[in-house]
Amino acid sequence: MVAILPPSETQTHAPVMADEVLRYLSVQPGGRYVDCTVGGGGHSLAILENAAPGGLLLGIDADAGALQIARARLQQFADSTLLTSANFRDLAAICRKADFVPVHGVLFDLGMSSFQLADQERGFSFQVDAPLDMRFSESQTVTAHDIVNNYGERELADLIWRFGEEPSSRRIARAIAGARPVATTTELAAVVSRATGGARRRIHPATRTFQALRIAVNDELGALASALQQAVDVMGHGGRLVVIAFHSLEDRIVKQFMHRESRDCICPPEAPACRCGHRARLRPVTKGAVRPSDKEIAANRRSRSARLRAAERL
Ligand SMILES: C[S@@+](CC[C@H](N)C(=O)[O-])C[C@H]1O[C@@H](n2cnc3c(N)ncnc32)[C@H](O)[C@@H]1O
Repeated sequence: MVAILPPSETQTHAPVMADEVLRYLSVQPGGRYVDCTVGGGGHSLAILENAAPGGLLLGIDADAGALQIARARLQQFADSTLLTSANFRDLAAICRKADFVPVHGVLFDLGMSSFQLADQERGFSFQVDAPLDMRFSESQTVTAHDIVNNYGERELADLIWRFGEEPSSRRIARAIAGARPVATTTELAAVVSRATGGARRRIHPATRTFQALRIAVNDELGALASALQQAVDVMGHGGRLVVIAFHSLEDRIVKQFMHRESRDCICPPEAPACRCGHRARLRPVTKGAVRPSDKEIAANRRSRSARLRAAERL
């Protein structure tokens, strides 16, 4: 098994848009914050440094291994930090159990970390030869191997289309079905590349298929939609919600959620009078999505597709 990612992408995970996260979370000394995606602890550390003295952080990650790295990195703030290995789809219950409500801010930095991408056992990257796994947590039962080898061709094509927005989804699904069993990331990447005829693309031909599988394995869009609601529930008045998305599917969910929760009425436009009784709970604090600076993109390629949106609890 050979990892061929450049060292800069594997040995550290530079927190994306860290200055913007601090600004839009409006981190204050003594504040209480939830980092729903602790990863290597980069954002958590920045939050704790700026929330001192007296600040508290509840850190969540589905990946128990990530929390080990974060725990070491956050050691100087051990007394102000509670780390828990869980899925953020249970955000409200986690906060209540920890007696951590209301909070001043909730952060989501979605997707996977550089550590996970480079891990030779996890199967997130087509550049690292590994078994097809892609689970954020070992406690999950469905792996990418199960989907690739057991889904019907039609079902697989739909998944690659919906979660990868891959125009060649049908051709790719047919090729995968014909190549079974497919055991590893590099086998799958080769099947996908052959199916797309080695077409010259801006991105590797397997990028969208791998994204689709990862989203499906972890039900990433379902977890996000559910957790955003709960984030608003656990925030006190004036609390800040900050979300960094890395592809249009998750960014669309965040955008639509913030738009909807910023309106008093969500009845269809043709309704003669309001019947929904919906009340705005958020005020957007970013105009559209905020993008990383050119300087950050040059220093950290992973940041190039980041889009940050923030809103304040009314
Ligand atoms: C981009 S990384 C976060 C990096 C982190 N902000 C830092 O500065 O190091 C995303 C992390 O979120 C975790 N994650 C993704 N979806 C999750 C979910 N539904 N519940 C809990 N953790 C999740 C992943 O395991 C990964 O460690």
